[in-house]
Amino acid sequence: MRITLKVWRQKNAATPGRMVDYRLDDVSEDMSFLEMLDVLNESLIAAGEEPVAFDHDCREGICGMCGVMIDGIAHGPEMTTTCQLHMRSFADGDTITVEPWRADPFPVIKDLVVNRGAFDRIIAAGGYISANTGAAPDAHAMPVPKADADRAFEAAACISCGACVAACPNGSAMLFTAAKVTHLGSLPQGQPERDDRVVNMLHQHDVEGFGGCTNIGECTAVCPVGIPLDTISQLNFDLRHALGRGH
Ligand code: SF4
Ligand code: FES
Repeated sequence: MRITLKVWRQKNAATPGRMVDYRLDDVSEDMSFLEMLDVLNESLIAAGEEPVAFDHDCREGICGMCGVMIDGIAHGPEMTTTCQLHMRSFADGDTITVEPWRADPFPVIKDLVVNRGAFDRIIAAGGYISANTGAAPDAHAMPVPKADADRAFEAAACISCGACVAACPNGSAMLFTAAKVTHLGSLPQGQPERDDRVVNMLHQHDVEGFGGCTNIGECTAVCPVGIPLDTISQLNFDLRHALGRGH
């Protein structure tokens, strides 16, 4: 495949960025999108130019590091992570634009790499339980209804990639925050901090500069693990209860 790339290049947060065109003449449709960027970088390094900085780690869809906007869609045309996207999703001769997540709370560090520390601070505000971890407990020690376990598991699948924020016209991180609140709030171990958790995590969400949710649903449309929109209803339900109890 012959591909033209328009890639956002930005030296650092203090320097304005710009789109730069690159031509690749020998892209295999079996390459992942990141492998295609590897090929681009090898050619840039061979030419003595600065390679394109992009985030990645697991390359198996579980770490959440590899998020970029591809043709204006978070993670590109398939509902998956960028590392699990393959070039067969594009056509020979295509021009593809690649940009970093666009959200004020995710400042650009370099090229396609953004700082997602705001997510870490939301987690630190309440995304934990106080139960001792220690050795794995007996599976029957604390019975959890199947429906609750399934709900918690579904929400726990959030990989903190930030696609929901990048897609949201409000720059809201409500789907991410709701996934964490729903995950822990669905389990017995998550009950002691349940009220404080939702209040403190939402407070940190707002402090970081993320916008409010207006139920547009762009977040869940791009979420690579399918976190459902009704987790945000759960978050609002928990918040009302917590505020009603004086938190
Ligand atoms: S809710 Fe989905 S899109 Fe948002 S951070 Fe979690 S996995 Fe990524
Ligand atoms: S590199 Fe880990 S999810 Fe893509």
